[in-house]
Amino acid sequence: MEVKIKGNRTLTGEIKISGAKNSALALIPIALLSDGIVTIDNVPNVSDIGVLKEILEFLGCQVSFENNVMVINNENLVNKEIPETLSNKMRASYYFMPVLLSKFNKVEMYFPGGCKIGARPIDQTLKALTILGGNVEEDNNHYKITTKGLTGGHVYLDMPSVGATVNTIIAAVKADGLTILENAAKEPEIVNVATFLNSMGAKITGAGTSEIRIQGVKKLSGCYTEVIPDRIEAGTYAIIGAMVGKNLKISNIIPEHIEALMLKMKEMGIDYKEELDSVTITAPDYKLKPVKIKTLGYPGFATDLQQPVTPLLCKCTGVSKLEETIYENRFNNVPYLNEMGANIQIKGREIKVNGPIEFKGAEVEASDLRAGASLLVAALAAEGETTIKNVNHILRGYDKLVEKLKNVGADIELVD
Ligand code: EPZ
Repeated sequence: MEVKIKGNRTLTGEIKISGAKNSALALIPIALLSDGIVTIDNVPNVSDIGVLKEILEFLGCQVSFENNVMVINNENLVNKEIPETLSNKMRASYYFMPVLLSKFNKVEMYFPGGCKIGARPIDQTLKALTILGGNVEEDNNHYKITTKGLTGGHVYLDMPSVGATVNTIIAAVKADGLTILENAAKEPEIVNVATFLNSMGAKITGAGTSEIRIQGVKKLSGCYTEVIPDRIEAGTYAIIGAMVGKNLKISNIIPEHIEALMLKMKEMGIDYKEELDSVTITAPDYKLKPVKIKTLGYPGFATDLQQPVTPLLCKCTGVSKLEETIYENRFNNVPYLNEMGANIQIKGREIKVNGPIEFKGAEVEASDLRAGASLLVAALAAEGETTIKNVNHILRGYDKLVEKLKNVGADIELVD
């Protein structure tokens, strides 16, 4: 599937942000830990969620998903090895590892998939599961983990990994005793996970800080919870607003979650209006200052926004620099941006962006989710028509992408 965009249209009106993909991808597997029915509201209707639903059904769960509400009944949950064809579709499949281990004391799984943006090892998760009493047998990309019963432990993560933090919390929540997790990730999605589990009866403190404590409990009950707004979707549309917006309002957001991005925009000289749960932004008609960006864990500049923000750096007058510290290989958007008229050089984990330039339409390809989003941002600002092939990558993470953009005046069509 591809998307065709006639660029340089002024976008005006309101874009409502959906629930966070990366939160929902954790909450849904975690629902299997509950001893009752779980209702999750504000689940984005993106293709990754569809895959997760397939996995739940494969494991014997009854799942309904309508109007962004997912209801999960895990009464008939069975412990089966998730086929590699499903688990290699996304990174989040490895949240089932601690879930099934906690429920059945045994799990067999393949190495998870996900965007090809670096090696993305899972050593920190395996280390945490071992500390909590798991016995890991590894054969190539296949893992068999067994336990005589998980027990609390003291875990230090070598880096504040989002996935390893979620996996440690999952394994600890029904383990016997206290777990202390140090150097935990502080992303808002972690807070969403802890709040969700606490509303089921878990005892977790410190989520959102680098030390999380989890006192194991015997039982978790059913509950209702909501997914937080998607800060990466919000950030992407805010960038689009700064490129081609006229009073473009990005609503249903938690402004604090995109503060690192918005303050970079302020450094560039861009003006915007922040309200309770929205930000309104207009593309400036004056020169923008170049900036330096370095990606970091939350509350630093999100790696997931570095590719989407790159086209905006191309609009600054002078040389901007962007350093990617989380992934080894997250510049697959750059050659395509250069085809569209950008002047960017890659040097190791850093890019040097020379501006200002005018983007022109071209035929390009989305190599992964955020690389695709980066091309989309450039295409919306480009003179002429752009075709982005492999748009499926973008649809993994942006709910109602075409509809939301059309509603504010974009000329965009999905083509099969
Ligand atoms: C989550 O990935 C997100 N995915 C990613 O979103 C996001 O880029 C990332 O967090 C960072 O914010 C989901 O939530 C499903 P990490 P995750 O573990 O959990 C290294 C998007 O575009 N590492 O925090 O996989 C790892 O290789 C995606 O929506 C180890 O070395 O990220 C990476 O360099 C892409 N060993 C760094 O840490 C480990 O055991 C951060 O990874 C774990 C991680």
